[in-house]
Amino acid sequence: MKIFSGFSNTKLAEKVSRALEVPYFLPEKFVFPDREERIRITEGVAGENTIVIQPLSTPVNENIIETCFLIDALKRSGADSVTLIAPYLGYQRQDHVFREGEAVSLEAVIKMLEVCGMDRIIVFDLHSVRIAELFKVPVVHLSALSLFADKIKSLDLADNCLLVSPDRGGLRRVEELSRLLNGAGFACIEKNRDLATGGVEVKDIKIGSGVDLKEKEVFIVDDMISGGGTIVKAVEFLKKRGVGEIFVFATHPVFSQNAPLLLQNLPIEKVYVTDSISVSKNKQFPKLEVLSIAGMLAEEIKRIENKP
Ligand code: R5P
Repeated sequence: MKIFSGFSNTKLAEKVSRALEVPYFLPEKFVFPDREERIRITEGVAGENTIVIQPLSTPVNENIIETCFLIDALKRSGADSVTLIAPYLGYQRQDHVFREGEAVSLEAVIKMLEVCGMDRIIVFDLHSVRIAELFKVPVVHLSALSLFADKIKSLDLADNCLLVSPDRGGLRRVEELSRLLNGAGFACIEKNRDLATGGVEVKDIKIGSGVDLKEKEVFIVDDMISGGGTIVKAVEFLKKRGVGEIFVFATHPVFSQNAPLLLQNLPIEKVYVTDSISVSKNKQFPKLEVLSIAGMLAEEIKRIENKP
């Protein structure tokens, strides 16, 4: 088996390769003056099972094209199989037609990857579990929730804690996390998003009977933080209801626009994310802590390698 990395998160590839004690390879990349890219691999891969580590994160379109070219180069050079590890799958929020006339962008991206020769994909915390059904190739859907559960246990606040999903779509996540935390209480905020502007409005919170929000240590859990609007509205809403300390957990630090500044200035203790997406220096902030998924990926690669 040979491991390759695209250029979107080489630090993650480095950590995975260190955990497995095997090298990883980068392709040669040349960008022409008109922004076309040329990708070339210089390692022999004939008859090999190959792994490509490449989150489809910002710049999303560039990273998708680079991934397609890398998969194509591996297949043309005789690789037996290509498993794409895309811990963050760009375009996953466009998984169906929301308004008449729209493309199903995610489905188009999946077709491109499959036509280029992707044989299997490993992803983390998809926005919706139904996304896996859009693929023709096998999908391995991993989750960072066990990392979050370990972190929450280490904070020693579990007795008085409440897990909160900032929208209905995330209810499944807090239910699963509650299971990992021996039945911790959970609640779900009702959010509305304006499909034209992207603006977020919080309507209500659905919470188990007999559970009081007052003084609770709250753990907000989401799949991703993009512009930050969802978390900002959720925190404002919860603080008005008298909760105690708030900790935010999200698998994918998309961090678009001024999200890092918004998060740093919120009345919260910490923001925990994973390295499914590389957080550049200028997007890091004091309240941020990054948990690594590299160990989980290394285990999954071993599992694939040992499959008959
Ligand atoms: C939406 O349904 C997702 O689960 C996230 O809550 C959302 O994508 C976060 O986006 P933003 O940070 O821009 O509000």
